[in-house]
Amino acid sequence: MKKECMEKSTAETSRIWLEVDLDILAENFKRICNAVKPLKVMAVLKANAYGLGVMPVAERLLAAGADGFCVAELREALQLKEFGKPIQILGGLLDFELAEAVKNGFILGITDWQSAKKISDESVRQGVTTEVHFKIDSGMGRLGILAENAVAVARDVVKLPNLNCCGIYSHFPAAANDELSTTQASAVLGIAAELEAEGIYLEKRHIANSDAINLCRFATVAPFTQVRAGINLHGSFNADGERELGLESVISLKSRIVQVREMPAGHTIGYNRTCRLPVNTKVATVAAGYADGIPLNLSNRGYVIIRGQLCPIIGRISMDYTTVRLDGLTEDIQPGEEVIFIGGNGSSRITVGDWANLKGTHPYEVLCSIGPRVNRIYITRKGT
Ligand SMILES: Cc1ncc(COP(=O)(O)O)c(C=O)c1O
Repeated sequence: MKKECMEKSTAETSRIWLEVDLDILAENFKRICNAVKPLKVMAVLKANAYGLGVMPVAERLLAAGADGFCVAELREALQLKEFGKPIQILGGLLDFELAEAVKNGFILGITDWQSAKKISDESVRQGVTTEVHFKIDSGMGRLGILAENAVAVARDVVKLPNLNCCGIYSHFPAAANDELSTTQASAVLGIAAELEAEGIYLEKRHIANSDAINLCRFATVAPFTQVRAGINLHGSFNADGERELGLESVISLKSRIVQVREMPAGHTIGYNRTCRLPVNTKVATVAAGYADGIPLNLSNRGYVIIRGQLCPIIGRISMDYTTVRLDGLTEDIQPGEEVIFIGGNGSSRITVGDWANLKGTHPYEVLCSIGPRVNRIYITRKGT
């Protein structure tokens, strides 16, 4: 029999909470693995697993068979070390991070000759060998060795002591089934092939992120050996490839009504009086605001769901509160009533993508903006 393990008491005593469905997370992970096999899937868990809470997410992914993790920086890597799996720091290191990064055996990126020299020197000092992957800037314009310089830099770097130069990777600025992405993938493989012809074998080759997993088949097959899946683990929120893999959103964001009132016609709602009620109106004030990650741009534009019904947000969202109209609801709504900000079903459904559109941003920023005051509650109905 399936066991409902949600910590009900925590939800019941929360003003605002993010429900993270770990079963759906594991299912998403397995679907991604199936889509790219035999390539490995490295789970990208930077920024606290995009705001969902890194430790429970990592634990569940490991149980579902994750081969390792990617993070942005040293502190994130240290948090995950206890799981004993390979951890790759994707970004560039700062000098003060070097000694710890080497000491803990993390996989590091070579972004230029200098970065390689520093990692090598530190590895010699500590008497260890550090696994490094060449980070190629094939078009992202952010970090790494420019593709045209890569072979020459790698030739020199492999001569440095105490480096295990076994990987090469790059990143898409806009993964798509188009010429730019194809050229980027070819550039990485071309560099690897040229080096191999000189006897420098880079056995790990990776470029695909979530969008590429959906859209760029050429980046999810050999000679690539692994993919880096981030936002797709949380449900595929991205435009064109969305739903290709049958992924589902793992999150719901919920809060509670604090007060219900009948407000007279002519009364205004919230800071700067951006909403004036044209008629007598039943309104509810909900215990969540922009400090919790509710985008200010939802003011007078967004909706929440109460008892399965979409209720419009009125007035300007404030730091701790959001006011909504209850006019369609005939039921007796009392303080404490649950309010869905993200989630729901069918026509009464609000997605991270909807918020991203209203905010004029992308889903990544919406997820990463969910504030520290929001309780993360993990739901699971089965083992792994
Ligand atoms: C280098 C690198 N690889 C992979 C990812 C994962 O991207 P996504 O969440 O689109 O899968 C990121 C995220 O920004 C990244 O910076």
